Amino acid sequence: MNITINKSHTLHTSFTFFVCFMAALAGLLFGLDIGVIAGALPFLSIDLQITDYQKEWVVSSMMFGAAIGAFFSGWISAKFGRKFSLLVGSILFVIGSLWSAFSLNVESLVIARILLGLAVGITSYTAPLYLSEIAPEKIRGSMISMYQLMITIGILVAYLSDTAFSYYGSWRWMLGIITIPAILLFIGVLFLPGSPRWLAFHGKYQEAKKVLNMLRDSTEQVRKELNEIQDSLKIKQSGWKLFKNNNNFRRVVFLGILLQIMQQFTGMNVIMYYAPKIFDLAGFNDTVSQMWGTVCVGLVNVLATFIAIGLVDRWGRKPTLKLGFLVMSVGMIILGILLFFGINDNFQKYFSIIMLMIFIIGFAMSAGPLVWVLCSEIQPLKGRDFGITVSTATNWLANMIVGATFLTMLEIFGSSNTFLFYGLLNFTFIIITAVFVPETKNISLESIEKNLMQGKLLRNIGK
Ligand code: BGC
Repeated sequence: MNITINKSHTLHTSFTFFVCFMAALAGLLFGLDIGVIAGALPFLSIDLQITDYQKEWVVSSMMFGAAIGAFFSGWISAKFGRKFSLLVGSILFVIGSLWSAFSLNVESLVIARILLGLAVGITSYTAPLYLSEIAPEKIRGSMISMYQLMITIGILVAYLSDTAFSYYGSWRWMLGIITIPAILLFIGVLFLPGSPRWLAFHGKYQEAKKVLNMLRDSTEQVRKELNEIQDSLKIKQSGWKLFKNNNNFRRVVFLGILLQIMQQFTGMNVIMYYAPKIFDLAGFNDTVSQMWGTVCVGLVNVLATFIAIGLVDRWGRKPTLKLGFLVMSVGMIILGILLFFGINDNFQKYFSIIMLMIFIIGFAMSAGPLVWVLCSEIQPLKGRDFGITVSTATNWLANMIVGATFLTMLEIFGSSNTFLFYGLLNFTFIIITAVFVPETKNISLESIEKNLMQGKLLRNIGK
């Protein structure tokens, strides 16, 4: 008897682990596709003979696709299911990776990047949603930060693989190798169960029960969770109607938009996409040190994410976010000042890179994970799908604007002014956070919703 229980417990645990691993693999691919372009860009620019303007398009076409993907994924995953949506995402990952590796000109590469973007947009909406619907309650909280950790690991792996291929100058391999994890994701998703919440929503209670039986240890637990799902389904998603009629909901949708705009306008992705170029500006002019420098950026990004995971529930969201913006602001402003006076000796060279790393730490310990956490916490249940769709799409649109303007900004305003600009923006974000962002630590989502609907100031809805 005992043996049977233990065996079935192990089976449930490993199945849950497999399910979470697959969804996290989607995060890894998100990161791989963000990171890969930094190392490939210098080589493909020479090979395809493209201008700075076209480079910006190669980079930001993916974000354009992602904004569209994120916008429609709410609908796709509601109508056809989370699993279907992940399947579409993984197929697009495979096609986009192969297509970009075989692109013969810049137009074809841009189309491939839009396809990849659609994949990233769809999965970046669906994977965390699926995770939160399938993960056992006790690990649900840390799931979103873990997802961010997978993104940063994906970026790092992409930088490492770029560096390896850079010795042969083969940008096609850099872009093409991502086909392998994409195929793994596709095969894995085929074995994933449907989301019990989605199944129940579509009246398929028996199937929902079957899935929960596979994932949970006791029938008691399954029964409890099914009841909870049934209760929560009494609240119909009616985001658009709520948005039109309810000022309190509109306020929180705008807060989601604001948070994502702040995350992107920290300037983090300027470094993620153009790191080798920035090392060049700082005086590291050979490709090998630029590539290894970029790997260090990726590593610091992964490691500093652990600071956020440790602080988010202890110290809270708001102080961590403010501190992060301050750190980023200091890093960017000092870098701007150094570039203003010109980087002439080794000390200045390394000092500017230290400032760059300080900026990365500031982002990874705060805005990186916390904005995603906050955006999923502040929306009232009725308008959750709508609110998260809008904020996720905003993330990608703002991401696109930042990616599409960096080289032009360098050209028009110069490197020093560009970094000073981002530094000052980060400084204003401290004030915006103080005025508008609530603390959501240790408070139930229901209480946040109640406070919001009572008309409390946004910054007080977590009190
Ligand atoms: C952001 C991405 C960024 C990544 C860097 C994520 O939270 O949304 O735009 O590239 O963090 O680690």
